[in-house]
Amino acid sequence: MTILAIDQGTTSSRALIFSDDLEVQGKGQQEFPQHFPQSGWVEHDADDIWTTTAASARAAIEKAGNPRIDAIGITNQRETTLIWDRKTGQPIHNAIVWQDRRTAETCARLKSDGVEDQVTDITGLLLDPYFSATKIGWILDQVEGARARAEAGDLAFGTVDSYLIWKLTGGTAHVTDATNASRTMLYDIRRGDWSDDMLKLFGIPRAMLPEVLDSAAEFGMTRADLFGREIPILGVAGDQQAATVGQACFRPGMMKSTYGTGCFALLNTGETAVRSDNRMLTTIAYRLDGKPTYALEGSIFIAGAVVQWLRDGLKIIRDAAETQPLSERADDSQRIIMVPAFTGLGAPHWDPNARGAVFGLTRNTGPAEFARAALESVGFQTRDLWQAMRADWPEAGDTVLRVDGGMTASEPAMQFLADILGAPVDRPANTETTAQGAAWLAGYRAGLCPGPDEFGKAWRLDKRLEPQMNDDTRDELYDRWSRAVAAVQSV
Ligand code: G3P
Repeated sequence: MTILAIDQGTTSSRALIFSDDLEVQGKGQQEFPQHFPQSGWVEHDADDIWTTTAASARAAIEKAGNPRIDAIGITNQRETTLIWDRKTGQPIHNAIVWQDRRTAETCARLKSDGVEDQVTDITGLLLDPYFSATKIGWILDQVEGARARAEAGDLAFGTVDSYLIWKLTGGTAHVTDATNASRTMLYDIRRGDWSDDMLKLFGIPRAMLPEVLDSAAEFGMTRADLFGREIPILGVAGDQQAATVGQACFRPGMMKSTYGTGCFALLNTGETAVRSDNRMLTTIAYRLDGKPTYALEGSIFIAGAVVQWLRDGLKIIRDAAETQPLSERADDSQRIIMVPAFTGLGAPHWDPNARGAVFGLTRNTGPAEFARAALESVGFQTRDLWQAMRADWPEAGDTVLRVDGGMTASEPAMQFLADILGAPVDRPANTETTAQGAAWLAGYRAGLCPGPDEFGKAWRLDKRLEPQMNDDTRDELYDRWSRAVAAVQSV
């Protein structure tokens, strides 16, 4: 059996071919342009999303020696919003990307109307431009005639998974999975249906919404001309949820954190949709056989992106790989604190107006201290999430954090993470957890992959990092970080 896993991300589209024991046989990847029409706005051309995905899939299949593909799994950047014409398949606007802040005012107005509690009760989310609902509303308001066409059922809304399935099936399937639906701010995560209250609040016609399926389900058959024959799409999950699956966090209390541009931590809370008191999100981790498993999620917008800033903004490194050796030369007597709130602060602060700052500079501070502070900022931010989630759900107990994503290759950065958490950090042998999660969902549906328990047993550790820092140093450092974060919110 061979599975094609599509991983459509924020900056590139990827595709991987997996064998039945979920080993990678071939990969394809293509970056695509980012559009920034105004400050704080981020868009993708829907055609770029589709053509780079199709090209990556073809490249991966070729690299793997043109095997017969039995099933497809899709994982994707979440929340990003597309609306297209059902007859022509043409999008009526560029995709509005999850990072886009254009609806900040709408969210602020709704907050001042006092509806955030209701939104959180139903959707598990907070009133933030991050999610799809206000982005859909914006397109319907700005594109002439769009609202009437949506009401008449002529337009379709979808997150990226939904759009890709539409394209792959030649417009015969308009579907999504429960994890992606749970990021729209329109989905009642407890009832498992689109919420009429939310549709009314955000002014979204039900007629434009996709059908919501399990994460392992029959999503449709691909057009025969794409891969030489029709192939069933059998697995779909948002990328952070797919990484949770790929990390085999199937038991309540298990937690993973993925380090890409941003960082997203998910704590499995089982059948309980835990309402956060600490401004974490409640989300669907996966839905299998009609049964949702919930998670608490903390989202940080800047993780790996802080290293990009050292490279492209400050120009103190030429390549991301230089960060680690540079940081090792940092002077221990000058521990500067960097708060990389370049696009505001995500969880648990959710302050879109905060901006970055560096504290503790002296005349001797140089590139090495900046590099160390940048890497440590990722550890500090993860501790914020870790602490908030454990306070929300003490049942989590002494959970071990499973990490994945590019930054986990840096051992000192992961050691600092273990140190500042005061808890072990596990790095898996498998570095393709997100795509593997999507492949497993498809293989599970096909009856070709083992169930969650067996799959979980196959998870392999590369390295466990145990905390080595003493409690006083940890407390002092975290206290300085907390005061720095408070300061950037008040300046
Ligand atoms: O919620 C946004 C997240 O899904 C984006 O992930 O990896 O495409 O940056 P990534």
